[in-house]
Amino acid sequence: MTDRYAVVGNPVAHSKSPEIHAAFARQTGQDIEYSRLLAPLDGFRATVESFRAAGGRGANVTVPFKLEAFDLADDVSQRARDAEAANFLRFDNGRVSADNTDGVGLTRDIVHNLGFAIAGKRVLLLGAGGAAQGVLTPLLEYGPSLLTIANRTVEKALRLAETLRHKPAAASSVLSGLPFGELAGHHFDLVINATSISLHGGLPPLPADVFAAGALAYDMMYGKTPTPFLAFAAARGAKTSDGLGMLVEQAAESFLLWRGVRPETAPVIALLRNP
Ligand code: ATR
Repeated sequence: MTDRYAVVGNPVAHSKSPEIHAAFARQTGQDIEYSRLLAPLDGFRATVESFRAAGGRGANVTVPFKLEAFDLADDVSQRARDAEAANFLRFDNGRVSADNTDGVGLTRDIVHNLGFAIAGKRVLLLGAGGAAQGVLTPLLEYGPSLLTIANRTVEKALRLAETLRHKPAAASSVLSGLPFGELAGHHFDLVINATSISLHGGLPPLPADVFAAGALAYDMMYGKTPTPFLAFAAARGAKTSDGLGMLVEQAAESFLLWRGVRPETAPVIALLRNP
């Protein structure tokens, strides 16, 4: 019998996850079906429960339900605990397990696909919301020399930096939180946009010289055209990447957890770029 999976969100119609998992299944010869499930804003739990009751084996979870997915699970991985959010659920033997594959998706894209080593680098993370929190510990595990979190609401950046400072993963990194206004005079090798500003066509207020020579600018969002953040970075000589590779890598990690097989991501990233 074909095993069933789904991505649950609201909205969810735009999600590329079904296409990605269908490509992984073809490539690895796995017999799965993967669909989109639109959950009402007040009906995440009911949607998950009915999918599970109908034989669903697992789900990816997207905006705005990642916190609820974390709360709903019986078993929670350390990665989900660090993120305080889950984008992955598995239904097995009457139990729901949660994980978070977003952070590993980001770091695999940066390190393996883009060939950019994070170890010893000065990293600037823009944003201190859920998307930022989800990737902080995985970034620290690569040992950047510096990890600075800049956010419009500085209290949130300070709180995240303070929480992380005591973690073993942060042992080799200097951590700090700042408002955007205090970035002047600082230069970074890797600048990651984890704010939701790109969704509204906006640009984080960055000084023009924030990118060190050879820097990589990474936007966790993706779209048909470069985000204002990536256009700003390219105009200042930085290398740029959108978040499509992160999306495919978080899906590959999910596929591995469900199916025990790690799919090749490069052909799937290429397929999405040039359908
Ligand atoms: P997500 O789960 O996508 O991270 P979120 O938790 O609402 O969503 O966080 C959104 C992030 O984008 C926050 O860092 C937010 O800054 P604040 O903490 O100050 O709200 C940031 N953000 C959103 N719109 C912004 C804007 N116009 N200017 C600057 N930062 C913005």
